[in-house]
Amino acid sequence: MNDNYQVEVKAAPAAADGRRLRVGVIGLGIGRLHIEGWLQHPNVDVVAIADPDLERLAKVGDQFSIPARYDSAEAMLAAEQLDVVSVCTPNKYHKALTLAAFDAGCHVLCEKPMAMNATEGREMLEAARRAGKRLMINFSYRFSAQSRALKAQVDAGRFGDFYFGRTVWHRRRGMPGFGGWFGTKALAGGGPLIDLGVHRLDLALWLMGYPKPTWVMGSTYDPIARELAERSGKAFDVEDLAAALIRFDNGATLALEASWAANIREAELMETRLLGTKAGLLQHNLNEGYTFDAHIFMEQDGAQFDMHLNPSAAQAHSAMHDYAEAILNERPHPAPGEEGLIVMEILDAIYASARSGEPVRIGSTAHG
Ligand SMILES: NC(=O)c1ccc[n+]([C@@H]2O[C@H](COP(=O)([O-])OP(=O)(O)OC[C@H]3O[C@@H](n4cnc5c(N)ncnc54)[C@H](O)[C@@H]3O)[C@@H](O)[C@H]2O)c1
Repeated sequence: MNDNYQVEVKAAPAAADGRRLRVGVIGLGIGRLHIEGWLQHPNVDVVAIADPDLERLAKVGDQFSIPARYDSAEAMLAAEQLDVVSVCTPNKYHKALTLAAFDAGCHVLCEKPMAMNATEGREMLEAARRAGKRLMINFSYRFSAQSRALKAQVDAGRFGDFYFGRTVWHRRRGMPGFGGWFGTKALAGGGPLIDLGVHRLDLALWLMGYPKPTWVMGSTYDPIARELAERSGKAFDVEDLAAALIRFDNGATLALEASWAANIREAELMETRLLGTKAGLLQHNLNEGYTFDAHIFMEQDGAQFDMHLNPSAAQAHSAMHDYAEAILNERPHPAPGEEGLIVMEILDAIYASARSGEPVRIGSTAHG
């Protein structure tokens, strides 16, 4: 049986007092999508941008008619009275720029991964607490209509307790900017695990209710990228595939896989399956691209049912929209830095396990 299920995602009202947020964006690669995401909110003005790449700065400034353009983030933070800053630079600079933004009195929306490792992530959270400012991580895949619809079903208790899951993002060949910062450990902190795996890990953890991780067994490999780097003389010193098994204190287990290069059928495969005591879920990409679908599988009265979630895409807002909404209405924001830190602790443990060949216990300080 196939059942279409229409789910409404309602927008919360904007701040009643008409207050507006002044936003600045640092780094204008994915930062361009942040500008679009911020502009979804009627009470947000993107007033300043910063990037040392002057060509990008001019192009993006013109595209969005942004008046104040800076070749350094520090100059922007010193000159502008900003309420919120998006940090969208290579991973190595996330921590320093987040700390600088807190010093300038701003809330921060930091791109994923939160930082190069959990030690840096912890420093960022401590700085947020000291400054009395908010830190949100842009786990953007939570904000699709399908992810939101699944989360509403989880919150309604449809699945019972999740006990096993598998969450993956594989690419047949898709190393971002081969030879650039993504494949350089000193700038990125790691390869597809920290780049792509981080999204699918967060999505699964968020749907599972962020259980406390206890043990990790991980492996990393680089046969395809290493051979290509040697042949082309390009820099590449991270993995091209990572796989891990994560165990939680409630007994649940999650398998995580991520790759930029793997000999598989699909060009791009994103898939999260979670099995609960009452039902299972699947969220996956369509046509090897960046649109998504979601399903629920269950058994009732001796019959097996498949339910197809069919939410309205128009009602899914950006992460930036929801952050603005939380700040303006003084409500808790989604994807808080504390969850970003748990993700970093798991990623650190996977890399440590891959190095040692042994399981690694996680001593989470982020988890309440
Ligand atoms: N949420 C998502 O889906 C998503 C997608 C892509 C990238 N990202 C993340 O966003 C970040 C940036 O990735 P990208 O793809 O945009 O990279 P990119 O290389 O395309 O762009 C980074 C930009 O930052 C600028 N920059 C570097 N150092 C800077 C500094 N100190 N101050 C100001 N600007 C600086 C660079 O000049 C460049 O224009 C990474 O952390 C990446 O993981 C997230």
